[in-house]
Amino acid sequence: MFSKLSLLSTIAVVIAQVSGVAVWGQCGGIGFTGSTTCDAGTACIELNAYYSQCQPGTAAPPPSPPTSNPVSTPVSSAPSSGPTSVPPVTSTCSTTPRTVSGYTNSALPDPFTFANGTKVTTAEDWACRRAELLALIQAYEAGTIPPKPPQVSGSFSGTTLTVTAGGVTGGTSSSVTFTNTIKFPTGTKPANGWPLLIALAGGSIPVPSGVAVLSYNNDGIAQEDSTASRGKGTFYNLYGSSHSASAMTAWAWGVSRIIDVLETTPSANIDVTKIAVTGCSRDGKGALTVGAFEPRIALTIAQESGSGGDACWRLSKYEQDQGSAVQTATEIVTENVWFSPSFNNYVNNLNVLPFDHHLLAALIAPRPLLSLENTDYLWLSPLSSWGCMTAAHTVWQALGVADFHGFIQAGGHSHCAFPSSQTSQLDAFFTRFLQGGSAATNFFTTNNVFNGVSWNPSTWITWTTPTLS
Ligand SMILES: *[C@@H]1O[C@H](CO)[C@@H](O)[C@H](O)[C@H]1NC(C)=O
Repeated sequence: MFSKLSLLSTIAVVIAQVSGVAVWGQCGGIGFTGSTTCDAGTACIELNAYYSQCQPGTAAPPPSPPTSNPVSTPVSSAPSSGPTSVPPVTSTCSTTPRTVSGYTNSALPDPFTFANGTKVTTAEDWACRRAELLALIQAYEAGTIPPKPPQVSGSFSGTTLTVTAGGVTGGTSSSVTFTNTIKFPTGTKPANGWPLLIALAGGSIPVPSGVAVLSYNNDGIAQEDSTASRGKGTFYNLYGSSHSASAMTAWAWGVSRIIDVLETTPSANIDVTKIAVTGCSRDGKGALTVGAFEPRIALTIAQESGSGGDACWRLSKYEQDQGSAVQTATEIVTENVWFSPSFNNYVNNLNVLPFDHHLLAALIAPRPLLSLENTDYLWLSPLSSWGCMTAAHTVWQALGVADFHGFIQAGGHSHCAFPSSQTSQLDAFFTRFLQGGSAATNFFTTNNVFNGVSWNPSTWITWTTPTLS
C-alpha cells in the first residue's frame, strides 16, 4: 500500500515537472515553494507579492472545480424597486472638505454623518455625502481625477472604438489616443443598442449571451508593474508624469472617456444606460474604483478584489494583528502604484482616515454592486472583505435597495477562476440590471472561513442605519 502510494506520488511529481503548473495555478509569491514553471500556452504573472499565477493569453477560463456551498444569509426576500442612480449633486451641497483635521476613529467611519457632524437623513443628503466622500478619498488615497477634458472625440470602425482626449496641459502630448476592441453578441440588436461589459484586462467572468464586451487595456492607460510604474501610461502622457492620480484613478478616467465617446457614437450600437464594469484581483480593485468614480456605470462586478478593493484597511490590519498573513496598507504601497503618493502618509496611522473602503464601495450606491471573494487565499483578507462589505451594505439598506448590493464569499476555486456554482447569481445581476429582465438578487453570503479570526460587527459598525427617502 505504502509503496503504491509513493509510486503514485513519484508519477505525480514527474507529471508535474513535465507539464508545469496548470492555468490559474500558483507559480510564485512570498512563502511559495512549488513549481514556478507554467504549462505551455500560459505565463506566470505576478498579481502581488504573495501570489503569481499561470494565466492564459486570451483564452477563456477553464471549467472550475466544484466549490463548497456558502452559508446563505439572505438580507431581503423580494426584489426591491427604488432609485438606481444618485440624485445629482445640487447647489445645496456646501463645498466639500478635502481633509478632515483632527479626525481619528479606530472603528469604521459612519457613512451617515457628514465630516461637519451633521447627519445624513435623506437620499439628497446621501448625494452630498457621496460628493464629500469622493473628495476625501481622492485627497487621502486615490489622487485627483481630472474632469472631462475640453476635447474628447472618437470613432468606431469594425470592432474598434478609438478614443482621443486633449485640450489640457501638463503632459508631453497635447492629445492622446487609445483603442479598444468590442466583442459583439450574435442575434438581433436591442432597439437601444447592446448592453456592454467593460472588462479590465479582459475580465474573468462568464459573460451572459446578449452582452457586448469591451476589453479595456487599463495598463496602457496607467502602468502598474511596480512602484517604478508611477506616472507612466497614456493618462500621464496627457496630464504629466507628476499628476497625483493613482493608476486606479487613471483607469476610471479612461473608462469615463470611453463612455463619453460611446455617447456620441451611435454607430457603435451600445446602450450607454446599460454599461457594466468588471475585473479580477488588481483589476477587481480597479473595477470597484471605476464603479465608484463613474456614475454612468450601471453595474459593478468586482471579483476577488481583496485588500485595496472590497476589504477595509482597518479590518485587514486587525486580521494581521490576529496573526493572519493578509495584505495590508503598509505592504501595498511598497508594491505598486495603485494608490497616490499621498496615501503613504496614512498607512501607519489608519485611524485618521475619515473613510475606509466600505465608503469607497458605497460611492456606488444606490447603483448595483456585486462583489465576489475567495477565502482560499489569505492575502485577500477574507474577514476584512466580509466585514467591510457588511458595513457598506448599510448604505444600500438605508436607500431601500439592499438587494442591489450582492456579496458572495466562498472557497474551492483558484484565484480568478470563476466558480460555475455562482453563475446563476452572476446572471441574475446581469439580467436585472443590464438586460431589463427581472431576477432576485438578494445574495449576501460568506462561508465564514476567516483563519480563526472573529468578526464582531458591533466593534466596527458603530452607527445605526437610517431610512433615507
Ligand atoms: C454640513 O455639511 C453638509 C454637506 O456639505 C451641509 O449640507 C450642511 O449644511 C453642513 N452643516 C453645517 C451645520 O454646517
